[in-house]
Amino acid sequence: MRDRSFSWVNGTELPFQFTLVRDSVEVVYQPSHSTQVTGGGTTHSYNLRLKGLTDGEYQCYIIAKDVPDTLRGAFSIQSQCTDLDFLLIGDIQDGKWSEDPAFFKELHDRYADVDAVLFVGDMIERPHDQYWSMFSTSLAPFSKHIPFIPVPGNHEYLLGGLSSLGKRYIYAYPMPTNGPDNKKGRTYYIDYPLVRIIGLDTNMLVTNYFSTKSWLKNVLDMLAHSPFTIVMGHHGVHSVRKGRSNPLMKYGIDPILREYNVDLLLQGHDHAYSRNGSSNSSRPIYITQSTSMKCYAVGDPDDHDASFSGERMYSQIHITSDTLYFYSFKQDHTLFDSFKLPRN
Ligand SMILES: [Fe+2]
Repeated sequence: MRDRSFSWVNGTELPFQFTLVRDSVEVVYQPSHSTQVTGGGTTHSYNLRLKGLTDGEYQCYIIAKDVPDTLRGAFSIQSQCTDLDFLLIGDIQDGKWSEDPAFFKELHDRYADVDAVLFVGDMIERPHDQYWSMFSTSLAPFSKHIPFIPVPGNHEYLLGGLSSLGKRYIYAYPMPTNGPDNKKGRTYYIDYPLVRIIGLDTNMLVTNYFSTKSWLKNVLDMLAHSPFTIVMGHHGVHSVRKGRSNPLMKYGIDPILREYNVDLLLQGHDHAYSRNGSSNSSRPIYITQSTSMKCYAVGDPDDHDASFSGERMYSQIHITSDTLYFYSFKQDHTLFDSFKLPRN
């Protein structure tokens, strides 16, 4: 958690500079640049990875010669903490410039101090500039000072049989490269003092099933220092939408999560909310979250310990050294579901 990645895009190539400020001392970095050309147009992506930052408060700004606007941000590094807060966002898939900017501004007003925002995939409708722009605009209040921890969903992939991840994703979200060789930057883990977060790219799992399984077992074997473990992936073990099933997650990945007593599996894809498991059951607790205007009916409520569909929802995860607290809210911010887990 001492590392931070920064990314931004521009319609034309410009000599951007990234300046980091700590205690009035400025250090200037040159970001890496990449051009993505697709049927949707040309995008110039810039990103920068900073590793091993020391504890403290930082400001940063991005400028380019002859460009009047300066993009400013601020963030904090606290490698020792007594508690952590995460906001969990399910699928968004805004395709119409709907009410998302207002909703996320409201969320930011309530959760401006979270340590990170977790996304379980399908943040965008399709991997085009227009949809990335909707997402970036909606989430802008958060993105200037709070890290995003995403996994890709099928809507970040191109349509088609043996589909591939949209070119912009890996530049927009330069995640840790500690994943298996064929999923670097998409499958990864991040260590916070109180929790290890493991992000899985569950798309096209059939093509990298064995390498993902063996990587996951290795990462879970190194758990001695982490009081809690959260795994997140777009395609879940317990499907909410009628007729859906993910056999590789259910019969391949889930036994590993149960063997290692992973605390939470965070899932998306089904455009409804569900919880399987409770404070008294074995782990993990399975959560499917959706923050989309697009909703699917719950297939069978009896298949879940809690379920709901029909509006956007989101969750807050609060972690202390001995307890994980989980709260799910409806879009009017009323509490719908909650539980707590003691340290395993
Ligand atoms: Fe999906």
